[in-house]
This record gives sequence, structure tokens and C-alpha cells, in this order.
Amino acid sequence: MCGIIGILGRGDVAPYLVDGLGRLEYRGYDSAGMAVMEDGAIAVLRTVGTVERLAAMYRGSPVSGAAGLAHTRWATHGGVSDRNAHPHVSCGGEAAVIHNGIIENHAELREELSSKGHAFKSETDTEVAVHLLEEALAAGKGPLEAGMDVARRLRGQYALVFLMRGHPDVILAMRKNAPLLVGLGKGESIVASDALAFIDRTNRVVFLEDDTLALVARDGVRVYGFLGQERPVVVTDLAQELTLPDKHDHEHFTIKEIREQPEAVERVVSQVPGSMTIFRRELEKAKRVFFVAAGTSYHAALLAKRYFSDHMKLYGEVILASEYRGSEQWFDDGAVVVCISQSGETMDVLEAARSAKGRGATVLSMVNRSPSSLEMLSDAVVKLNVGPEVGVAATKSFTAQVVLFYALARGGASEEEVAELKGAMEAALAQEQEIIGVAELVAKGRDVYFLGRGVSYPMALEGALKMKELAYLHAEGLAAGELKHGPLALVDSGTPLVLLNPEDETYAETMSNGAEVKSRGGMVIGFSTAPSPTYDRFVRIPPVRAEFYPVVEAVPLQLLAYHVARLLDKSIDKPRNLAKSVTVK
Ligand code: M6R
Repeated sequence: MCGIIGILGRGDVAPYLVDGLGRLEYRGYDSAGMAVMEDGAIAVLRTVGTVERLAAMYRGSPVSGAAGLAHTRWATHGGVSDRNAHPHVSCGGEAAVIHNGIIENHAELREELSSKGHAFKSETDTEVAVHLLEEALAAGKGPLEAGMDVARRLRGQYALVFLMRGHPDVILAMRKNAPLLVGLGKGESIVASDALAFIDRTNRVVFLEDDTLALVARDGVRVYGFLGQERPVVVTDLAQELTLPDKHDHEHFTIKEIREQPEAVERVVSQVPGSMTIFRRELEKAKRVFFVAAGTSYHAALLAKRYFSDHMKLYGEVILASEYRGSEQWFDDGAVVVCISQSGETMDVLEAARSAKGRGATVLSMVNRSPSSLEMLSDAVVKLNVGPEVGVAATKSFTAQVVLFYALARGGASEEEVAELKGAMEAALAQEQEIIGVAELVAKGRDVYFLGRGVSYPMALEGALKMKELAYLHAEGLAAGELKHGPLALVDSGTPLVLLNPEDETYAETMSNGAEVKSRGGMVIGFSTAPSPTYDRFVRIPPVRAEFYPVVEAVPLQLLAYHVARLLDKSIDKPRNLAKSVTVK
């Protein structure tokens, strides 16, 4: 996580740093900071809280200069405080650093550097990097050699960007398993963790590879391996489809993204058939198939397993990315590992993908954000094509993943299927008033349970995840049949329980589970295609073919979590403690 941006420009870059940083805030919003080379010294502004707070601070006491860095933090080491906010500055103010990642050997380096007289001002793992650089610069090394010294000493994952007082016309950047790219503009260069930070200024991009250092100058960039060997610089023209997101008339990005799902599912199946064909061909050849993902993407993976099993007669194992090690011995040259990630930057997923590649497996990936680290290390990629998802809670990317997996498993989706889905999602969105009524009940409680069977089971998990992250309510998603094996003991008078109960093959059994809850005083909220006396509250799900129910159920589940969060006045687009892109372990 953490968003980083560094710029070397012609005029004052400070306003642009604040602006670009705002577009990276999805990566973390515990604190924000910036450093600018001002009259031969490094001036720093830092604050806990949002980029808007940093912007207000900047307006109150402006700094200015033609080179600078900015950072938005998702705290890992050291609490959320002003002094732990980046940039961090060396003892004598020779250099400043911003960082995304984790420096694993920070404790031993801190001890060593402290014993040499370095005074640490923060509790972060990051600060060791700037003191290491200071040591190398003090020994008379230039930016490249000094950077190589730092890289040699650090263990972990990092994207690091340094500003150096003695070298005002260069920014030093280095990358190891964390995203970092350089945008080449007219007389200016920008280094950032995401092209979104600079896409309004240039679409000419150099993707830095892992284990490389970059010397960024106004007129270009030179790239080196950690041992100093110069690497060729490849400039890519990014498609202008990387547009800057806008909420338009919606109160939050999250509700905008929920509402645009009917159009999104249509876009997702208008894929270039080529990439779908490669995907299917690799899967057909596979001896073993693994689906690897985290969070909401993991729920999509559970459905993918079902679709591929039903339509391609493929057996696959679904693995939580953070738990891939238990299965990696099977990632051999007969295996296909399908990695699913909206951002394409989730560290746990990237690690599993690297392990799979290293063991000879074929890595296929499904991403939304592009370009991304995941697609760069994959053998084939399919893209969701649903545009930027800004809300931290995954919404349209989830339904797009599910629809794309359905299309992949079936070898495409017909116009009739797309129309059926789109119509049903629109009908589900039209239930918003009814859902607000249910949200008022749920918001009064402390817990809420979600129950589903078959294809609705992953949706019970997804409904609970949405409720946790948006409304901060305790929520559990359960396989309906598991209720009687323990969780039923939790049901008390008035406990709300969302019963996902479309009229598919699971209907009667799930209804019995609802009745078990009702007879113990629980409040059964039926999300179903038909009303029933078992339900205390009813939200209508439009009838569709059985395999589409997850996509259609997603809509009221998302709306419910959204409206509970809204009633409880939570920070909807940026829930506390979370970040959109989870680039640490
Ligand atoms: O970008 P990814 O799909 O790899 O992200 C995985 C999870 O971090 C993500 O789905 C997370 O659980 C969402 N905030 C859920 O809404």
C-alpha cells in the first residue's frame, strides 16, 4: 500500500504533488506528506489524516521548488502519527525518502546506524533507508553508487524514492517487489506507484523492473540493476483509457460503482476473444488447476471453480493467496495457476504467482487495473474492462469477475445471456428503497449473519465481508447447512440473518434453515425470488438462470452494506484501516 510520487519539473511542482497524491490516496490514508527542494534545502510538510488535510496545510504555509516527493501512508511499522508520516529526512537534511513496502531487517539496521550516531526521528522501518543513503553520500558516492549501497543492505519489499540536496537535478528511485514506474513528460519526469498519479501530464511510461535502480532526470531516465549494470529503457505509450475517476452526481464512489454494474457486465464480455481462447486452451491442457486470490476476489474464485467444473469438467482447488504455501508443492509444469486480482498488485497474490512461475506452472491472471505487476508476470491475462474502481470495497470488479469466469467456462456469453443479466441487475438496483428499510433494522444491531447454499454460499461470504468493511459491523457468512453445526447457538431474539434463497435447487433446504432461525426468535431477511411467511422482511431477487444468482444477489448485498454504513455515518469510500491495493504481506 502507500502511494508515492516524485517529480522533477521546470516550475513549482508543489501544487502538482498535492494533486497527484490525491489520486493515489486509495493506497492508504493514515497520513500524508511532501518534501520539496526549496532554495537548496529540503522543506517538509507532514500530517496525520487525508491528502485534503495536507493540502490545507500546504495552503496555510506553502513550500515551493522544482523537485519534490509526496506520500500517502498505510501504516505498517509505527503508529499513525505526524512523526511517522513520510517523507523521512536524514540527520543533516541531505536527503528525504518516501517508501511503499516493508523493510524486514529494519531493527538490526537501526541498531547499527544508531551506534554510528544517526538520530532516528520516527518508529518506521523506512527511516533506515535515508540514513543508509546519508552514509553513502557522506562517503563521497554519487547517487547511483549510494543507491546500490542502500539496495545491498535492505531486505524486504520496497519502492523507495529519494530526493538529495546535493543532487537537485536527479531523483533516485529503486524497486524490489513493489510497483514503481516513471512517466516521461515535456521537460519533466515523474516517478510514482501508479500511472494514475501522472496520466493527466503524460502517457509515456517506463515500467521499472524488480531489483532495479533508476536515476530520474528532467529529460529522461536511466535504469540499472542492483549491481550497477545499465539496463535498456523501454518506453510504453499507455492507452488513454486510464481516465481520471469522477463521482459525477453520486454521493460516494462506492454507490456510483454499485449502480454502474449493469453496464459493466456488458463491457466485460466484450473481450478480445483471443485472450479468452488462450485462457481456455491452457486450462484444457492442465493436469491441475488452482485459483488463487484474496478477499472479494477469492469469493469470485469460489464461483469460478464451480463454473469450470460444470462447463469444462475441470477440477480446481481454490486457495487463499496468503495460504498458497500449503499447496505450492503442486505448482509444477502440469499445473495452471489462475490468479484473480482487481488491482493486480496484491502482494499475497503476486507471491503465489512468482512461486508458481518459479516451479514451472503456467500463470493465468484476471485483472482490472492495467498495467499491473500481476499481468507482467503472467503467461496470459484477461481484463475486466470495467474502468477504475475507486471505492475500497470491491463491487463492480466482483460482478465482472464472476461474469467473465462464466463466459470463460462457457466459451463466451450470448447477447441473450447478457441482456438477461443486465435486466436482472437493473431490477435488483430498483429495490434500493426496500433495502434502505432493511438497513435501518440492521444498523440498530451489533451482528448480522448471511446464509447461502450452492452458488449463494460464496455470496454469503461476500455479503458479510461488505458489511464488515463498510459498516464496521460484526458479520458472518455461513454455508446454510453449517448453521446447525454450531453457529445456531449465536441466534437470539431479533438477531438479523440474511437468507440468500433464490428458487434454485437449494431453495427448500435453505428455507428450512431460515425456519430454524425464525423458530428461535431470529429475524429472517429473505433475499429471494418469492415471498414466504418464513421471512420477517423480504427483498425481491429477479428470477434468472441458476448460475446468474450470485451476480444478481451481489447488488442488494452491496446496497445493504452501503446503506447500513451510511446510516451509521461511516467513511464509505475509504473505510478505516483499509486500503484499496494491499501491497504488503
Ligand atoms: O485487488 P485484489 O482483488 O487482489 O484485492 C483483494 C482484496 O484485498 C480485496 O478484494 C478486498 O477484500 C476488498 N476491499 C473487498 O471489498
